Amino acid sequence: MSLNKIIVLNFGGQYDQLIVRRVRELGVYAELHPCDVEINSLNLEGLAGIILTGGPQSVNDKNSLKADKKLFDLNVPILGICYGLQYINHEFKGQIETPTNAEYGKTPLLVDNKSALFKDVPQESTIWMNHKDRISKIADGFKKTAWTLNCPVAGMENTEKSIYAVQFHPEVVHSEYGKTMLKNFVIDICKAEQSWKMEDFATQIIEEIKEKYKNEKMICGLSGGVDSTVAATIVSKAIGDNLQCIFVDHGLLRKNEADEVMETYKNLGLNVKKVDASKEFLDLLKGVEDPETKRKIIGNHFVEVFEREAKEFGKAKYLVQGTIYPDVIESGKDKASVIKSHHNVGGLPENMLFEGLVEPLRSLFKDEVRALGEAIGVPHDMVWRQPFPGPGLAIRVMGDITEEKLKIVRETDKILRDEIKNAGLNEDIWQYFTVWTPIKTVGVKGDARSYDNVIAIRAVESTDAMTVEAANLPYELLQTLSSRMINEVAGVGRVVYDITSKPPGTIEWE
Ligand code: XMP
Repeated sequence: MSLNKIIVLNFGGQYDQLIVRRVRELGVYAELHPCDVEINSLNLEGLAGIILTGGPQSVNDKNSLKADKKLFDLNVPILGICYGLQYINHEFKGQIETPTNAEYGKTPLLVDNKSALFKDVPQESTIWMNHKDRISKIADGFKKTAWTLNCPVAGMENTEKSIYAVQFHPEVVHSEYGKTMLKNFVIDICKAEQSWKMEDFATQIIEEIKEKYKNEKMICGLSGGVDSTVAATIVSKAIGDNLQCIFVDHGLLRKNEADEVMETYKNLGLNVKKVDASKEFLDLLKGVEDPETKRKIIGNHFVEVFEREAKEFGKAKYLVQGTIYPDVIESGKDKASVIKSHHNVGGLPENMLFEGLVEPLRSLFKDEVRALGEAIGVPHDMVWRQPFPGPGLAIRVMGDITEEKLKIVRETDKILRDEIKNAGLNEDIWQYFTVWTPIKTVGVKGDARSYDNVIAIRAVESTDAMTVEAANLPYELLQTLSSRMINEVAGVGRVVYDITSKPPGTIEWE
């Protein structure tokens, strides 16, 4: 039987899911479980190896996290990382100490190249450390394989038992040869087959949902974004029309957006109802200038509309959400579960209780969601949509909102999107949009004086929206944008390019 699976046991470290992702990048299926899961309760078919993650605790604490010891009897290779190394050393009767100095950040590492784990790794390279505790006495039967200035045992192994361990984090990019080490473990030592594809993940998760929720009714709020679209498509492939999707048009979407996304949803076979609530939203927002008040009005009313529509569909037990891994903020044990139940619903009203949330994407990173989307037939353009804020264009019209200002933002935003796409930059830039500012500016159009508004272009590069740099748009492109916006959109007097980074700025202007 082929060996095609790695189990990662999670001791609550920051990089637990990253380890899973690195294994998947090698084309090997990996799944994350709480560290103390009963080994015999897991499906061990095809198991090639086990990885123990890092974690914030000290193994010397009385209540420190422990794994089911049966894992050491499975006769598969084991790799301990950080707390994983300390836990293994502790279990095999070595000693761990807490020195006064911790070791954080990039550190030079020396390795014994004879170790299979360090094949093709130079004797000296840079790795990422993040620990306080360290080995003070190596367990019997283990041999030291790596060290740093502050950490006498940064790597150890017991080849007889096929147990390997490192104090540093090979999974983070700052560890120069980290990927090589993980490859050495997964492919050479565990002999795992590189046969896993995103299509397999899709099939597996669809089957899982089908089995668990065959005749249940579920509701999903679609936003037009990639996460909710992929989540809904996955669930819809499992339970069909028992999933009712609701798409609320709050009147603050981009040009043609509502029609375009509805078309995509229909082509994907989603059972979706579009609710045109734009008049309600715009009436509520009339004359409101403060950005936070605008956000609150939109958020509250969105909930009201969603609740109203959900009731019409009848009692749905579950809410489907497109939560992805970076959104998962809970710590510890249940991080791995694909489908989490008995959870109150963040962002939805307290009294609108569901029996559970179904979050099929909660173990995936954004680029994996995109790959999954493509694998299940979500169109490329939808998969590569830029992030769009819930309050939509309301926070791109400074101050109070009118149809006229929205129209200017829609038209200029369309020109920007078209030109960015023509320049082949649409998949490189994180977000790009235009902002209507209340600044009036004098100009001369066709020999006559004009007095129109300033439009700002915002285009940013980022990987997570936490920090951003203004995109380095070619000057010719900026010139084209300025002249097209002023010539083609009535009410635009001047175009400026925002070069503020975040921090100190934010992506949106309000
Ligand atoms: P900022 O402007 O805070 O934006 O740098 C970071 C990311 O969040 C989006 N954003 C929002 N999304 N509701 C949302 O759903 C909001 O009120 C909101 N404000 C900002 C923004 O587009 C960017 O992707």
